[in-house]
Amino acid sequence: MSNKELIIHNLLNNEWVSGIDLAQKCGVSRTAVWNNIASFKSKGYDIESDHKLGYRLVGIPECLYPELVSYKLKSGVIGKKIIHYMSTGSTNIDAMRFALKGEKEGTVIVAETQTQGKGRFNSKWESVPNKSLAFSTLLRPYGKRPRQGYQFTMMAALSIVEAIYEFTGLKPRIKWPNDIYLNNKKIAGILTELNADTDLINFIILGIGINVNQNETDFPDNLSHATSIHCALKERIGRLDFFKLLLFYLDKRYNDLIQNKFSDIFKIWQSFSYPPGTKVFYSANSHEGNGVIEKVNEDGAVSIRKEGGEIISIYSGHLQIL
Ligand code: BTN
Repeated sequence: MSNKELIIHNLLNNEWVSGIDLAQKCGVSRTAVWNNIASFKSKGYDIESDHKLGYRLVGIPECLYPELVSYKLKSGVIGKKIIHYMSTGSTNIDAMRFALKGEKEGTVIVAETQTQGKGRFNSKWESVPNKSLAFSTLLRPYGKRPRQGYQFTMMAALSIVEAIYEFTGLKPRIKWPNDIYLNNKKIAGILTELNADTDLINFIILGIGINVNQNETDFPDNLSHATSIHCALKERIGRLDFFKLLLFYLDKRYNDLIQNKFSDIFKIWQSFSYPPGTKVFYSANSHEGNGVIEKVNEDGAVSIRKEGGEIISIYSGHLQIL
């Protein structure tokens, strides 16, 4: 853990800590403590100073700074290292660059806002500073094949719904293959990108975007099918605590996956998925039309019963709930 992180962690119980104690606990000089406190204040931390009592933290900024996310984080691999940007093009592109330079597994890249956030099939992903959650996680699973890539999207989707359910009591739905819905509107999406040869996955970038605290007016007119957790709950939610809970579930489900427990993940995934009989408009390659979901299969395909009764399996495509 860096000295910066240690200093904030020692202040996060909101009690007075003397400069000497802080310096000793963090293994730095008193001047270094003083310099760090000044830099924290410039980042938006509200820290009181008293020449006798020392320092006391009375308020934290809205940002998902690494030293805040790592405090009491209940996760093993995912989030062990966090790289934070106020603004970046796309955290998936950043993560890809870091991965190619040898960054270790579990590193999370999080941004308050993205200027070129991307979704599946080259769509654009919008985020609002301090209100959305946009981050990417680098995974280096051992011995997984490229055709198993969908399992990582499914485990991420399950982690998102589990975190939302625990944090808010709201039960979201998963729309095959990568969308999370509340009240039939989209609140989150996953963009899974692979670096692989024909036999093995080298690494995976799991990009997750969640609409957390946006108001209705934060969504442009062309995003009328989108909503946020805040809009559904009618309450603002603590983005930092929610993010930490999500990292915990991602870590847990990723562990299940690498221990070859995908069947367990899939069973719970199904309980959150739109059920058989849901009417959809499907599009995949050159096929499109109306139909109903028949089932989602453990190999990642969705079976659709077309209006004429014929059943087709789609491995990569798009569903729109009707
Ligand atoms: C989709 O719904 O099509 C997927 C959206 C994924 C968005 C996230 S936000 C963090 C990460 N960085 C990106 O550029 N995209 C993903």
